[in-house]
Amino acid sequence: MHVFTTAAELRAYSEAARSAGRRLALVPTMGALHNGHLQLVQAGAAAGYDVIASIFVNPTQFNNSDDLRLYPRLPEQDTALLAGAGCTALFMPTVAEMYPQPTVLHFDFGPLERVMEGAHRPGHFNGVATVVSKLFHLARPHAAYFGQKDFQQVALVRQLIEDLSFDLELIVYPTVREVDGLAMSSRNRRLSAEARAAAPLLYRVLTQAAEQVRQGVAPAEVQALAQAALATEPQFTPEYFEVADAQTLQPLAQYVAGCGVVLCVAAHLSGVRLIDNVVV
Ligand code: PAF
Repeated sequence: MHVFTTAAELRAYSEAARSAGRRLALVPTMGALHNGHLQLVQAGAAAGYDVIASIFVNPTQFNNSDDLRLYPRLPEQDTALLAGAGCTALFMPTVAEMYPQPTVLHFDFGPLERVMEGAHRPGHFNGVATVVSKLFHLARPHAAYFGQKDFQQVALVRQLIEDLSFDLELIVYPTVREVDGLAMSSRNRRLSAEARAAAPLLYRVLTQAAEQVRQGVAPAEVQALAQAALATEPQFTPEYFEVADAQTLQPLAQYVAGCGVVLCVAAHLSGVRLIDNVVV
C-alpha cells in the first residue's frame, strides 16, 4: 500500500493509475477506523477498484473545539488495518497540506442543510463539502464510497456531485452495526463502559419508531414516543429525533404516498455525540 502525505503525490498517483487504465475508488475517512470503514474499502476492492483511503481529521467541519481535540487519532493502527483490507493507497495529509491558506469559498445547500446536523452543528457541512471537494479533485476517483450512517452527509455529497459535475459514482453502503445494534462510529471508542452499555437504546428506539411508521402512527406521535423512550435513560441528552422525507430531509407533518421516510436521531451520551438513522 502506498502512503502519501502530499497533494502532489496523490495527484501524480491518480494520474498514473488513470493513464494505466486503472479504476479508482475513494474512501474518505477521519481515521480511528472500524469495521464500517473497512467494509467500504473491501467493497471497493471487490468491485475491482484500486482503493484510495484518506485519513484526515478535518478541522473545518468541527464546530466544537473539544470534539476536535478529543477525536481519536490512531494512524499506525489505521495504516495496518487499511493494508489488510486491500487498500491500494492511503492519503494522510497534515492540516497545512490540505489548507495552505484559509478557504474563503462557502457552500450553501439550502433546505437540505437547515435541518438536523446542519441546524445543530453550524458550519459543519461547509467544512465537509470543502474537504470532500478537495479530495475529489486530488484523487479524481471513478467512485466514492460513503456510509449511510451519515445520512444527511450522503444527501449533501450527492448534491455536491450533481451541482459541481464531479464525474464519479456515489456508492452508499449500509450502516455497519455492533451485535447489540449500536452503529459503528469512531466516537464509540470514547464511551465509558457504563455509557457503552446504554448506547444500544438509540437503535432500539429507531427500530420501534420504524415499526410505528409502518403501522401509520402519525409523525408527531412517533417523534414524541421516541423522545419519551430516550428520556428513560438518564445518561442520554437527546438533541433531535426527526421523522423526515428521505429525499428532501424535511420533517414530515404527514406521510405522503410514494415518499420514503427516514428516522434520524442525535444524542449526547456522557459527553459523546452519537447519530444514527433508519430508512423506512
Ligand atoms: O464522514 C466522515 O468521516 C467525514 O465527514 C469525511 C467525509 C471524511 C469528511 O471529512
